[in-house]
Amino acid sequence: MTYSFLWHILGSAIGTIIATTSTPAVITPRISTATTSNPTATTITISSTAPGQACNLTSAPITTYTLGNGSNPKKHTAGEFDQDGILDIVVVNVGFNIILALGNGAYATPINFTTGSGPESVFVADVNNGNRLDVIVANYYRNSVSELLGFGGGRFTAQTAFITSSYPIAVVVVDFNAHNRLDLAVINLIGQTISILLGYENGSFGQQTT
Ligand SMILES: *[C@@H]1O[C@H](CO)[C@@H](O)[C@H](O)[C@H]1NC(C)=O
Ligand SMILES: *[C@@H]1O[C@H](CO)[C@@H](O)[C@H](O)[C@H]1NC(C)=O
Ligand SMILES: *[C@@H]1O[C@H](CO)[C@@H](O)[C@H](O)[C@H]1NC(C)=O
Ligand SMILES: *[C@@H]1O[C@H](CO)[C@@H](O)[C@H](O)[C@H]1NC(C)=O
Repeated sequence: MTYSFLWHILGSAIGTIIATTSTPAVITPRISTATTSNPTATTITISSTAPGQACNLTSAPITTYTLGNGSNPKKHTAGEFDQDGILDIVVVNVGFNIILALGNGAYATPINFTTGSGPESVFVADVNNGNRLDVIVANYYRNSVSELLGFGGGRFTAQTAFITSSYPIAVVVVDFNAHNRLDLAVINLIGQTISILLGYENGSFGQQTT
């Protein structure tokens, strides 16, 4: 089975790409295919351009990863997680995987992080003003969203869960009420509701309102 994915670069979404080197984020990673060849493993293929080059999928180096048993990747996005000025990739499947870009189109072995059951959607943003990108995941089977706060170097805290309504399928981080703080908006499949969890800017969110 082949999965096709929405691909968006974080810079076009809400959130901040943190580049602390003088080199801007010039590498555009692309997951060109993501397939499950059998029920127990998923491979993803990443290609990217070398620094300073325009993206050319024909000539770009390609790296293939196996993301683990039953991993069934749902969504991926990009963010700068290790302060090298190059966009890294985050994939949600059984948990989430961070694939750090090493430069020159190379990527490190994926690192696994644990989320709730059935992570379905992922969004990256700095939700606690920590100057590092955090990861928010909607957990379909847990009726929750998990927050994993980034603290640099591609590392994250263990998850903190916040309750949503039934079967959350998508999460976005947005300043919902224009109070200059990032909130969570979650789409719940059952009941077709949207949960809003107002942010405190410190990594905590209030209880949902739907
Ligand atoms: C992409 O790379 C291929 C192989 O090197 C080359 O033939 C092609 O012209 C390049 N395309 C662009 C748009 O640069
Ligand atoms: C991630 O976790 C899955 C499930 O436990 C495992 O199969 C896979 O090998 C792990 N991947 C890495 C890169 O550690
Ligand atoms: C994959 O996970 C399933 C369910 O947890 C387990 O039964 C199976 O043995 C695992 N397969 C491999 C190759 O790890
Ligand atoms: C965040 O701020 C709220 C409101 O002031 C407070 O209730 C909560 O405990 C704080 N959370 C953390 C992790 O500091």
